[in-house]
Amino acid sequence: MKIIVTGGTGYIGSHTVVELLKAGFEVAIIDNLYNSEESVLDRIETITSKRPAFEAIDLCDNEASLSFFRKHQDAVAVIHFAALKAVGESVKKAIWYYENNLGSTFNLFKCMNDVGIPSIIFSSSATIYGKYPELPVKENSPKFPTSSPYGSSKQMIKTILKDTIIGENEIKNGISLRYFNPIGAHESALIGEAPKGIPNNLLPYITQTAIGLRDSLSVFGADYDTPDGTAVRDYIHVVDLAHAHVKALQRLVNEENETDYEVFNIGAGKGYSVLQVIEAFERMNDVKVNYKISPRRPGDEPMFYADSTLAQEKLNWQAELNIDEMVASAWKWEAYYREHLQK
Ligand code: NAD
Ligand code: UD1
Repeated sequence: MKIIVTGGTGYIGSHTVVELLKAGFEVAIIDNLYNSEESVLDRIETITSKRPAFEAIDLCDNEASLSFFRKHQDAVAVIHFAALKAVGESVKKAIWYYENNLGSTFNLFKCMNDVGIPSIIFSSSATIYGKYPELPVKENSPKFPTSSPYGSSKQMIKTILKDTIIGENEIKNGISLRYFNPIGAHESALIGEAPKGIPNNLLPYITQTAIGLRDSLSVFGADYDTPDGTAVRDYIHVVDLAHAHVKALQRLVNEENETDYEVFNIGAGKGYSVLQVIEAFERMNDVKVNYKISPRRPGDEPMFYADSTLAQEKLNWQAELNIDEMVASAWKWEAYYREHLQK
């Protein structure tokens, strides 16, 4: 069975492509390489001994996208990762974020409709629960306005996707996966996250500080009402997240879905504080992370973690890899990246 993966050369996309190929799916990737490198295809091939089909196309380009979809019209489903994802940048560059994330999705839906691909899995985010989440966050927890155009674009796509599925067209069913905080890398260390510029997220900042690229990590806030005063998040290993996509896909292609549009939280269901993550990183990798306590980062919640019971019950999925495996794999990847891939 062929699956089209948008954004498949990116961080989560590349890990998911590996698991799809391992599970016996054929893969065709469409990605404009804005935030990824074509060389990831070689590394995917090294890991799996299979090479996915690939074209460097901007999904906002309807004509080029449609020609790609015509070539791959035998695909049974699409996994839609392609998006711009930097929360802070989206506040400054709102038009660009809305144009890219919504425009690419409109074109994608039109292409799927034109060639008749019935199923879609969409990359959603914990960010759509907005501020003041009830804990642990359940799929039906209240949704508050998000603090960024990035988060709003994810909320909007949810509505557009639901309406599209209800409407009269060729897109018949979909699953949104709401990821919590994906971190870590493939055990081979051949693929992982390589943010451009100064990282916003915790793990890449830790690995870049440990390797000497950054002087010091700022721990944003140590006066929260949490066990050690630093903020708590639900970190999920990217390989576990990739497995969740394979399970969701199998649910759709085997017609096991209970409704045409389903939503699942994908988190480990456990919270770790910033200081706990640093401690695990230092212990597992035998390396020091220089850090200082800094003021809170505006917009941050004290605590955020998922109730992923629904994914466990319906997808037969649960996180397998623990925080030690997450931080060890992230470090192994950082070392490989700096030695072999950085230009
Ligand atoms: P990423 O930037 O590594 O991958 C996204 C890929 O999409 C990139 O390769 C980029 O080049 C491509 N892309 C962007 N716009 C495109 C367009 N118009 N046409 C074609 N390709 C385009 O990001 P990621 O971390 O792998 O995230 C994948 C998805 O998961 C995104 O939708 C993101 O919003 C979502 N998500 C990510 C996280 C996270 O922490 N990484 C958390 C929640 C949700
Ligand atoms: C952020 C986004 C979220 C997105 C997710 C994954 C915000 C408000 N939320 O989540 O929408 O889905 O990234 O891309 O931007 N921290 C430090 N020092 C750092 C970096 C982070 O102490 O240099 C702390 C943060 O305060 C937070 C935790 O580490 O408590 C995790 O931060 P981060 O990796 O940025 O993820 P979130 O803020 O949870």
